[in-house]
Parts: sequence; structure tokens; C-alpha cells
Amino acid sequence: MQSIVASIPTFSTAMLFAVILAVPAKANGLAEQGKIIATTWCANCHVVQNDQPVASADVPAFATIAEKYADDMDVLGAFLADPHPVMPDMSLTRQEISDLVAYIGSLR
Ligand code: HEC
Repeated sequence: MQSIVASIPTFSTAMLFAVILAVPAKANGLAEQGKIIATTWCANCHVVQNDQPVASADVPAFATIAEKYADDMDVLGAFLADPHPVMPDMSLTRQEISDLVAYIGSLR
């Protein structure tokens, strides 16, 4: 009994993250979905769309990132799957990463 009770906080934390990260699910790297994730999670620091007026200084715009990884979108996906030294680790799902890569690719 005690072990069940003890596991509840872990479970609720996991559920909380699942809910926070849950965006309306659609399959296969959709740019439209990536744009929603980007404006929600990335726009505080990055300029994520061309008509966004401000973000943090010294953070590359998504359009710049799109150019940089133009020939290597897989590398971009790998970058997003790994915790970043400056960026917070957002624990993006594979689906979210695919969506973001599709969206960033669409900015080229
Ligand atoms: C708290 C601020 C912050 C947030 C939020 C953030 N980033 Fe970043 N990001 C940075 C900074 C700062 C850099 C530059 C790091 C460096 O130059 O070493 C960066 C770099 C990157 C790069 C690498 C660019 C390159 O030149 O290789 C990618 C890709 C990226 N971010 C994607 C994202 C995505 C996608 C999100 C949202 C899921 C996001 N970032 C959210 C601050 C942030």
C-alpha cells in the first residue's frame, strides 16, 4: 500500500508534464504544429516568425537557423533532442521535434 502512495507524486508530475507538453496531436512533422510550439515555447528568446518584432538579443532567429541547417535538417532534429547548454531542456517529444524541424524548414 505504501509503495502505491509513494508512487503517486511521481505519476502526477509525469502527468502534469504530459499535459503541459500536450498540443493537439497530428502526425508527421507538420509545420503548422511546429509554429504553435515555437510561438509557445521558443518565442521568449528566439524570433520564430518573420513578423515577430522582438526577442532576446544574441539568440539566433529561426530564419537564421533555417539557413544554417538548410542542408542538414537531421542535425537540427538531433540538436533539439539533446539538452542545450544555454537553452532550457524542454524535453520535447519526437513529434514536437519533427514539427519544429518542419516549421523551421518552412522559413527558408
Ligand atoms: C531561454 C531562452 C531560449 C529558449 C526558450 C529557447 N532557446 Fe533556442 N537558443 C537560445 C540561445 C541563447 C541560443 C544560442 C546558443 C549558443 O549560441 O550557444 C539558442 C540556440 C538554438 C538553436 C541552435 C542555433 C544554432 O546556431 O545552431 C536552435 C536550433 C534553437 N535554439 C531552437 C530552439 C527551439 C526549437 C526552442 C523552443 C522549443 C528554443 N530554441 C527555445 C535560447 C533559447
